[in-house]
Amino acid sequence: MELIESIRSRRSVRKYTDEAVTKEQIEEIVDIARFSPSWKNSQSVRYMLILDKAIKDKIAEECVMGFEWNTTIMKGAPALMLVLTVDKRAGYERDGSESTSKGEHWQSFDAGIAAETFCLAAYGKGLGTVILGVYDEAKVVEIAGVPEGQKVSALIPIGVPAEEPQAPKRKEVADLLTVK
Ligand SMILES: Cc1cc2nc3c(=O)[nH]c(=O)nc-3n(C[C@H](O)[C@H](O)[C@H](O)COP(=O)(O)O)c2cc1C
Repeated sequence: MELIESIRSRRSVRKYTDEAVTKEQIEEIVDIARFSPSWKNSQSVRYMLILDKAIKDKIAEECVMGFEWNTTIMKGAPALMLVLTVDKRAGYERDGSESTSKGEHWQSFDAGIAAETFCLAAYGKGLGTVILGVYDEAKVVEIAGVPEGQKVSALIPIGVPAEEPQAPKRKEVADLLTVK
């Protein structure tokens, strides 16, 4: 798939077939996502794949802060990726001091880059994804057993697409770009 066309045509997919997603398939996708740029190449993003249905469904049921739209998406997906980030790497010096005035900002920034690269790579491999931002982080940490010192930067359900969503309306270039 051609790069520019892929960026344009990737969609958030929220409905999936019953077909299983394997560890091997996701390894191939992480093998691509690991080439994402990161703060001073600190590579602080980690990926935790949940294939265990009981754990996935528990996260879907107990961690959505009342936003059941996300429960339905996760329960319908054969796999759930947790995008994790190691604290105090992106945006920090080796001695732990802040490199800029923006504190933890760069940690989320790196996670966002990695998440989109992951989603594009999954798309290239025929899988559908959607980045989820509405979740109770503390509960996800507890249920999934996220290691101490790591944040849950996004949840990404994954599966073989069972829908072909239309692109939500985009702003025009003139609304987005300022030239001085
Ligand atoms: C940081 C972030 C958080 C998001 N959170 C959710 C979410 O909680 N639930 C959901 O259904 N979609 C979520 N989305 C998906 C957006 O709604 C979607 O990307 C947007 O509508 C554009 O559609 P497209 O991805 O198909 O181009 C999120 C996307 C991002 C980048």
